[in-house]
Amino acid sequence: MEMLWRLRRRQVVAVPSRQALQQARELELVESSPDEPLRLTPLGAKVSDSLSEYAYWKQRGRRHHWAEEIAALQVENLRGKRILEVGCGAGVNLLSLQRCAEVVGIDVEPLYLQFTGVLARLEGVPTPTRVCGRAERLPFEDESFDVALFHGSLPYMRIEKALREAGRVLRPGGRVLVIHGDLGQAIASRASQRRWRLLTPRVFLREVRAVGGMAVYPWLGRLFLEPFAPVYPTRRRMRRWLTQAGLRVNTHETCRIAHEVCYVAEKPAGIGR
Ligand SMILES: C[S@@+](CC[C@H](N)C(=O)[O-])C[C@H]1O[C@@H](n2cnc3c(N)ncnc32)[C@H](O)[C@@H]1O
Repeated sequence: MEMLWRLRRRQVVAVPSRQALQQARELELVESSPDEPLRLTPLGAKVSDSLSEYAYWKQRGRRHHWAEEIAALQVENLRGKRILEVGCGAGVNLLSLQRCAEVVGIDVEPLYLQFTGVLARLEGVPTPTRVCGRAERLPFEDESFDVALFHGSLPYMRIEKALREAGRVLRPGGRVLVIHGDLGQAIASRASQRRWRLLTPRVFLREVRAVGGMAVYPWLGRLFLEPFAPVYPTRRRMRRWLTQAGLRVNTHETCRIAHEVCYVAEKPAGIGR
């Protein structure tokens, strides 16, 4: 597990035991050639992501992300609701939330969804309902959920479309909860992580592309971004997209948390779509 985690973050890997290495190779999680270092296969990257989510979830006492810190995510505010997690990944939030609510997860990546079943069995809990599909075209009826939750997933989607779809499937009075970084914070954290490496032309150009691509995303979409690169818009832009999706931003409950923002927005009662 540690080997996969480190390889995912491009960290130095201590020489793994022969047995661990052989197993990882047999399972096609890692590959290497004589003159190249050990690296994860695409399957290995997904397995590493899922195992990391599971490990962090256990460290948090098997609670969903920000279960205590953000009022809108506290159990008392979610109890009895019908919740859709959009971009649920390996589904650790679903495992927690199903204790107090009816949950459905959707993700574009079938392997992550398969992992939810494995984790549920490991934990001895029911397997939550998951659907494989895209956030931009949710396979659910209008007004069928009380809460649509995006935890760390919206940056990878067509943001405006995903928010419009979330607005569509929400019942009047329902809420969208989005935990998402913003542009300023993203630039600051990228700069502090890379520091001197920014002086290397290759790293510098990659960063210019990533930050420039995010800045022009509202007009040009993902044209300049690498595939699967995240997009962190400004807070003002996010509020505009939420409003355009027919949602009313709750300025009292929207809050900053660590290096992200939790946007809380409601679908006004009495507005059908
Ligand atoms: C950073 S993970 C977050 C996982 C989970 N929400 C959590 O908090 O642990 C982002 C997830 O969004 C999913 N995703 C990205 N684009 C998507 C799309 N267009 N539709 C549905 N899911 C998508 C990815 O497959 C990935 O599982």
